[in-house]
Amino acid sequence: MHGEKLCTSTDIPEGEVVVVYYKDKSLAVSKINGEITAIDNICSHDDGPLGNGKIVRGNIICPRHGAAFDPKTGRALTLPAVKSVCSYKLYVDDGDVYLAQTE
Ligand code: FES
Repeated sequence: MHGEKLCTSTDIPEGEVVVVYYKDKSLAVSKINGEITAIDNICSHDDGPLGNGKIVRGNIICPRHGAAFDPKTGRALTLPAVKSVCSYKLYVDDGDVYLAQTE
């Protein structure tokens, strides 16, 4: 059972984070060691676009002031961000990436 198709696996370059729009959501979708994960594309510090950030040592770095976020859980790992952002459960099937139905 799948949720809604978000993108294809090849849309996300290895070692990068990109912005993916889905309905009313804007997501920061990353691929690290082949694993695709998604968190909200809005930094909890001051609304920086996390999907325009970089991956450094496995974490997403906000392009505005450099806070690090865990790409799987959305947890804020360094200042100036202190609050987590939402993370989303994904499924990959036959090269397609699906957003699992969430609450
Ligand atoms: S907006 Fe992301 S660290 Fe400030």
